[in-house]
Amino acid sequence: MFAAAVLGLLAALQFGAVLSAIHEIPVTIHPPTDANGGSRDASIIRDDVICRSEACVTRAALMLQSMNASVDPCTDFFEHACGNWMVLNPIPPDYAKWGVLQQMQQQLFAKLRDLMEFNVTETSSARSKARQIYAACTNMSMIEDAGAQPFIMAMKNVMGTWPLLDSAWNASRFDFLSTYAKMSREGQGYLMAAYVSANQENPRENIIFFDESSLGLPSKKMYYRAASDKTRKAYMSLMRNLTSLLAEDLKTKLPDDFDAQLKEIFDFEAAIANISYTEEDRRDPYKTFHKMTLENFLDNHFNITYNKTEFFSAMQQVSTNASVNAAIQLNMTINVVNPRYYEALDRMLAKKLRNGNDAPGKKFLANYFGWRMLLGAAGQLSKRYRDAAFEFDKAYSGVKEESPRWRTCVDYTNSAMKLATGSIYVESYFGIDAKAKLLSLVGDIKMAYEGILKNVTWMDEATRNRALKKLSSMHEYIAYPDFLLTDISRLDKFYEKYRIGSIHYLNDKNIDIQATAHAQEELLKSSLRDIDEKVAPATVNAYYYPQKNIIAFLAGIMQPPIFHKDYPEYLNYAALGQVFGHEMTHGFDDKGSLFDEEGRLSSWWTNSSRASYSARARTVIDQYSAYTTSAGNLNGNLTSGENIADNGGVKEAFMAFKQYLRRLNDTLPALLPGLENLSAEKVYFLASAQTWCGYYRPEYMTNNILMSVHSPYPFRVMGPLSNLPEFADAFSCPVGSPMNPVKRAGVW
Ligand SMILES: *[C@@H]1O[C@H](CO)[C@@H](O)[C@H](O)[C@H]1NC(C)=O
Ligand SMILES: *[C@@H]1O[C@H](CO)[C@@H](O)[C@H](O)[C@H]1NC(C)=O
Ligand SMILES: *[C@@H]1O[C@H](CO)[C@@H](O)[C@H](O)[C@H]1NC(C)=O
Ligand SMILES: *[C@@H]1O[C@H](CO)[C@@H](O)[C@H](O)[C@H]1NC(C)=O
Ligand SMILES: *[C@@H]1O[C@H](CO)[C@@H](O)[C@H](O)[C@H]1NC(C)=O
Ligand SMILES: *[C@@H]1O[C@H](CO)[C@@H](O)[C@H](O)[C@H]1NC(C)=O
Ligand SMILES: *[C@@H]1O[C@H](CO)[C@@H](O)[C@H](O)[C@H]1NC(C)=O
Ligand SMILES: *[C@@H]1O[C@H](CO)[C@@H](O)[C@H](O)[C@H]1NC(C)=O
Ligand SMILES: *[C@@H]1O[C@H](CO)[C@@H](O)[C@H](O)[C@H]1NC(C)=O
Ligand SMILES: *[C@@H]1O[C@H](CO)[C@@H](O)[C@H](O)[C@H]1NC(C)=O
Ligand SMILES: *[C@@H]1O[C@H](CO)[C@@H](O)[C@H](O)[C@H]1NC(C)=O
Ligand SMILES: *[C@@H]1O[C@H](CO)[C@@H](O)[C@H](O)[C@H]1NC(C)=O
Ligand SMILES: [Zn+2]
Repeated sequence: MFAAAVLGLLAALQFGAVLSAIHEIPVTIHPPTDANGGSRDASIIRDDVICRSEACVTRAALMLQSMNASVDPCTDFFEHACGNWMVLNPIPPDYAKWGVLQQMQQQLFAKLRDLMEFNVTETSSARSKARQIYAACTNMSMIEDAGAQPFIMAMKNVMGTWPLLDSAWNASRFDFLSTYAKMSREGQGYLMAAYVSANQENPRENIIFFDESSLGLPSKKMYYRAASDKTRKAYMSLMRNLTSLLAEDLKTKLPDDFDAQLKEIFDFEAAIANISYTEEDRRDPYKTFHKMTLENFLDNHFNITYNKTEFFSAMQQVSTNASVNAAIQLNMTINVVNPRYYEALDRMLAKKLRNGNDAPGKKFLANYFGWRMLLGAAGQLSKRYRDAAFEFDKAYSGVKEESPRWRTCVDYTNSAMKLATGSIYVESYFGIDAKAKLLSLVGDIKMAYEGILKNVTWMDEATRNRALKKLSSMHEYIAYPDFLLTDISRLDKFYEKYRIGSIHYLNDKNIDIQATAHAQEELLKSSLRDIDEKVAPATVNAYYYPQKNIIAFLAGIMQPPIFHKDYPEYLNYAALGQVFGHEMTHGFDDKGSLFDEEGRLSSWWTNSSRASYSARARTVIDQYSAYTTSAGNLNGNLTSGENIADNGGVKEAFMAFKQYLRRLNDTLPALLPGLENLSAEKVYFLASAQTWCGYYRPEYMTNNILMSVHSPYPFRVMGPLSNLPEFADAFSCPVGSPMNPVKRAGVW
């Protein structure tokens, strides 16, 4: 698949989901209140303040259908807002989690499918390449005809044959470092992930990061945690099944010690997992930043298996771009994400390769590389391979069916050429007039946050001034880069080296190589604030880039029910506004707050303000650690950044909403048909919570708790709203009820 880009450096608004608790709460009907909190007499409602546009009617119906009004809002507002959504929207068989945001992505993919399949005369070469990728990906007869042959050829190019399935394999023809260098050109830096990213101390400069390797399983914890027993078993079966299929295609016999060899590969990965950071460790920007020269690294941290000269010459072959290779110097500054990892890996490699007779070690490492190549390729090969891979997915995430091919291929194409598909999407589905509206909405949220920063009493003036500076320097990125519509030649140039044909697997390889080259070429550039070539407009997501101090909101998230230009403004504050606030607050969460206004990792906090911050962050960690799911308690440490962002976002959006009500003077905001009896505040909170309607399959929930930085959906509602006194006011929640606790948590 694609080159690992900036592992862990993006703080994404991603989508967790939920298993809902059952409640036996009697129906409680609260008197409707007006926008100022008092009672509203229904007789004063005039028809002209009810929004009857198609957008409003559809949204109002959705809001009413989604809620379970018989659940007390003060006890469980998530169930109140979303209880019926989960009944009306059974999880599709090919999804591991299903929520409003997944539905939006699915609808977006359906639009992209139409656009991809519609016959047009395309003048943009990039856009036609995207269409070709999609066509080859959906051409099942071609994929079946090709079988495993393209993969076998690709493996031959990189490492010759696979010793596991080749009894005549000859160790003297295998060189570990040159094989590693060749794999790196395809973005597969197994064991040693080297990539280009911004220098944390000086984010205008791009440097090489030596990071831990990805492994076959998605999380390192899965190699040793008891909760992942089923996943480990499924992974072992997958190894067996894929290898057996390849043996058939190679018309070769499985070796007698087949299972022992596979077990050795698994145990090796488990040992690598054991020397790796956990997801929690990776959230700490100091723990993941160890600046040194390449020479220092090779002299002191990776100095047993290879001497400096040998390793350095391999590094000068890692790119298909000669200028990148030439730019690699022993005296250059690099970041070694986890030096202990490299020291331990070095000992493991030395044991295999420097034991007097290194043939068994070479054979083992070639076996390992071969396994990772096969695993990476399985999803792009013929049906037998995809079915074997799907058996693993079933055990891992609980899905029941493979996705329809068109959706797999839209998703694939959208990742492979995100700017080209983005161009196709926004041309048809994103009105220019929405951009101005969105900018003013972001401005209102920013103003609300500024109000919070100016008002908090636990920060001293020096820190406050830096915080305000960081907020005012924060750059907003809205929807998509203009050049996607106005300068197609730039788009075409960006993808000019992509060679796309009719064989899906070969396209996949080429995409990997070109994407890796793009990522490596960043080494030759300064790291500007420009993210125009990094965004994926056709995705339902939003980001904060700590090293650029940019918040980015992609075109895909700006659609109903999160946003519509014809909705009454307050619905947009409630749903999209909280997302804006969430990303903004990432700049000030426990991790983001360690980066300054320029994106430098630097302590701009006074000790006393930082101590207050940490004490406040601890309240959030404790609150969320106490939340429990079918898969156990949440990991408050792992999710703290997202939880702080959720809490901040909800509060900022609500403040912006109050400001908006003040701007309306005494007039009421437009009401929604069917919801006329609810105060604007109540409708606001419903809209806010209903962004997160959704749930997980139990298997997926287990993995989510283990590795996701996002809390499951119910807690993205319960946490922030129970911390907001105005919520309790709006619903007149008794003190001590779950949504109106005596002690509230929160940083901002
Ligand atoms: C709504 O909530 C009530 C009370 O908890 C529950 O009995 C009922 O089953 C829920 N309805 C739906 C559709 O989930
Ligand atoms: C698209 O055009 C090709 C030939 O140009 C034709 O064979 C094909 O049927 C068309 N597809 C659709 C969906 O119209
Ligand atoms: C699949 O690819 C082959 C070879 O390019 C082509 O002849 C065939 O029409 C394609 N099938 C579809 C459904 O596009
Ligand atoms: C392995 O390859 C080397 C170099 O090509 C050759 O000298 C040696 O004879 C081969 N060994 C076997 C067992 O084929
Ligand atoms: C994991 O690492 C610890 C030391 O850090 C060691 O004691 C333990 O044996 C290792 N486990 C495995 C499975 O390698
Ligand atoms: C590797 O570096 C460590 C730490 O500087 C040093 O103690 C050790 O002697 C070096 N080993 C070799 C083989 O150079
Ligand atoms: C490093 O290794 C290469 C190849 O094994 C060898 O030719 C060279 O002499 C070694 N250099 C040092 C400084 O040990
Ligand atoms: C690194 O070494 C090269 C020559 O090998 C030299 O041109 C360059 O200035 C050096 N860079 C630094 C940062 O010292
Ligand atoms: C994979 O292997 C397991 C046992 O190892 C077997 O039960 C399962 O049916 C196989 N699945 C596929 C798709 O080959
Ligand atoms: C400022 O803080 C005070 C006390 O914490 C609070 O009552 C008030 O609502 C805050 N105002 C704003 C604009 O946040
Ligand atoms: C969370 O982090 C704190 C401080 O870093 C640590 O003491 C605590 O054990 C961690 N909790 C969990 C569940 O890992
Ligand atoms: C609210 O009052 C202000 C000042 O009196 C006025 O400028 C503004 O237009 C009014 N807003 C609305 C929506 O009527
Ligand atoms: Zn986030």
